[in-house]
Amino acid sequence: MHTGCGITRRDAGQAKSFVPLRGADDSFLWVGKPQALAYIPKSAAFQPFSSFSSPSDLPLSHVKSWYQIVVAVPSEALEKASNVLFEAGSTGLEEVSSQDGTGRLIAYFVGSNQRAVLHEVRSGLPEARINASQVELEDWSAAWRDRFEPVWPTDRLVVCAPWHDVSAPADGYRVVIEPRTAFGTGGHATTRLALQALEGVVRPEDRVLDVGTGSGILAIAARKMGAQEVTAIDTDPLAVQNVIENAALNGVDGIQAEARSLELEDRGYRVAVANIISSILRPMLGRLHSATEPGAVVIFGGLLSRERESFASSLEAGGFKVVDVLQEAEWIGFTTSKS
Ligand SMILES: C[S@@+](CC[C@H](N)C(=O)[O-])C[C@H]1O[C@@H](n2cnc3c(N)ncnc32)[C@H](O)[C@@H]1O
Repeated sequence: MHTGCGITRRDAGQAKSFVPLRGADDSFLWVGKPQALAYIPKSAAFQPFSSFSSPSDLPLSHVKSWYQIVVAVPSEALEKASNVLFEAGSTGLEEVSSQDGTGRLIAYFVGSNQRAVLHEVRSGLPEARINASQVELEDWSAAWRDRFEPVWPTDRLVVCAPWHDVSAPADGYRVVIEPRTAFGTGGHATTRLALQALEGVVRPEDRVLDVGTGSGILAIAARKMGAQEVTAIDTDPLAVQNVIENAALNGVDGIQAEARSLELEDRGYRVAVANIISSILRPMLGRLHSATEPGAVVIFGGLLSRERESFASSLEAGGFKVVDVLQEAEWIGFTTSKS
């Protein structure tokens, strides 16, 4: 089952320094079905977003090489080409658009039978220009460590890696994240929006629920903002390991990290945050409603600005009153009050 999505797009001429599988800006290659193409930001900017499916689908942290097929087709054939590539087993797709009416798709394959894949792509796209190659990344972790810069999502908060020599802002706090496969280094707008929203609402003594915790960045920040305890859950067990590691790096206790989704037994939270994606958040609204106290603050992230009205209607129908909407680029986050 796929629990999130994202696809990388970039315009022709943009830097080609993209590291497949995991980018320092929290991009992941998309893993899943082509329906998720619906989530491609239309701006066609390099603005990926995803989360990932079950770890068995994604042994990404161990991947040091991949098979890459570049397909050039007329723009109107891009959707068909992407379907063929996904059908052939691509774990990620990157689109490079150009002005001359042709489009290029770069498809990544991990651990696939390369001859069979190439044969399938050639048969499915007989008119396309196709190039295939094996890409080795000699030092993958070093490559993306180099791209991880400290970020200051608010005046009071800096997020950095353990090797960064950065101090906390005056009267503020520092969150240290060891970048691994889990999402959440502060490099993505959705994380920054959630951190900004949290800073405005967390009070001492709060019990906070972080659904889709990823690296644990929001949970750790909430503790540093004064929350008494945080339940941090994620369907990805690798994320939970990363939360535990990051909590220790930050000298923070009081975070209960669990590999699971939201359950009916979750109750009594004064603050909840869920930075995931609308297709996952919508079915979760009922459980978030029952997990939180009357008047609780519930923060929703991972939403595109074009989803603003439709998601606001879902929130209202689900018993959440919108009290604030934060935006960065095409991403928005809702702060709501449980009615
Ligand atoms: C966009 S990341 C957010 C990570 C981090 N909270 C942040 O704000 O940077 C979404 C996370 O949600 C997790 N996830 C997806 N579906 C979920 C579900 N149904 N229940 C819990 N976690 C889920 C993914 O594994 C992923 O780690």
